[in-house]
Amino acid sequence: MKFFVDTADIAEIRDLAETGLVDGVTTNPSLVAKSGRKFTEVLAEICEVVPGPVSAEVAATDFATMMKEAWRLARIADNITVKVPLTRDGLKACRALTKDGIKVNVTLCFSPAQAILAAKAGATFVSPFIGRLDDVSIDGMALIADICAIFRRYPAFTTEVLVASVRHPRHVVEAAKIGAHVVTVPPKVLRQLFDHPLTDKGLAAFLADWKKTGQSILGD
Ligand code: G3P
Repeated sequence: MKFFVDTADIAEIRDLAETGLVDGVTTNPSLVAKSGRKFTEVLAEICEVVPGPVSAEVAATDFATMMKEAWRLARIADNITVKVPLTRDGLKACRALTKDGIKVNVTLCFSPAQAILAAKAGATFVSPFIGRLDDVSIDGMALIADICAIFRRYPAFTTEVLVASVRHPRHVVEAAKIGAHVVTVPPKVLRQLFDHPLTDKGLAAFLADWKKTGQSILGD
């Protein structure tokens, strides 16, 4: 399972990338607005820090302008993945960009039918938003299970399921059990994945006992 970080905060990305566990980054217009930075500049910086796919979303809703924006974004760095919304124009752009060798992440997916369309349009990734479904009392993880089951039946579909709108570590674990290809997590959730109180307790006990031995692994 690949881990992407869902943020446009370069300090957070730098910090988490140091773990060696970050395979990519996803951004969206809301996250860019939160960063307060110029979109193209922050993207260029992110692409230098993380060599994996960095999703950058178009702001236009019509095909022609989406294509212009997509090419502008794609030229920022080789590892840019253009993000388009799951609309008719978005999927048309996805098909055209994919034919030209640009990686595309189709975002705002809320149904298996939409995911099938994204796969048919040749998307590199499709992003189902599970937290936003949970927020309205619809089982987001059931959507991931459905999409993964459908894609497994069609080996010609190369689109990876990128689980988005993740709210807590349990979302990550459940998505992994289903076999989703990628999960994009807010920095806070990625940090939470490391934590377990028994790890802290166990480590404290080991360190206390080690101190009693009076030894040093690196020698005196
Ligand atoms: O980046 C897309 C998605 O992960 C947004 O999540 O928390 O705004 O629903 P959220």
